[in-house]
Amino acid sequence: SLTEKTVDTRLKHICELLELEIPHYNWVGFYFKNGDKNELKLGPYVGEPTDHTIIPFGKGICGQVAVSNKNFVVPDVAAQDNYIACSITVKAEIVIPIFVNGENIGQIDIDSNTPDPFTKDDERFLEFVCEKVATIL
Ligand code: SME
Repeated sequence: SLTEKTVDTRLKHICELLELEIPHYNWVGFYFKNGDKNELKLGPYVGEPTDHTIIPFGKGICGQVAVSNKNFVVPDVAAQDNYIACSITVKAEIVIPIFVNGENIGQIDIDSNTPDPFTKDDERFLEFVCEKVATIL
């Protein structure tokens, strides 16, 4: 049953569902604060493997969200400063922080191969997903 699965298995299933059901979600993954270090560590994901399994706070879109505690929508990655490219097929990115007891403990990161695909509906939906994820961590 669901309750017997590990947290990582559940997170992986969320990634798989999002990538499968939403056509403009092409890479879906979780990054989490790496212990006491000022860096993020890659968790469960679906899509192309990435070299960026550790991201220092402040670096790239993910690292910026780790310090800003805000959603970050990038409609065009080619026009974005402080962006870490993982794949040449990626056109856009959205990162939404995950809060546990008010603390930013990680994030969901989604890449799209479609230019400028993310709307306020994506933000609201992914905030909802992150709130649900926070309850199983
Ligand atoms: N593009 C991200 C790095 C992570 S990959 O998208 C999987 C960034 O700029 O932080």
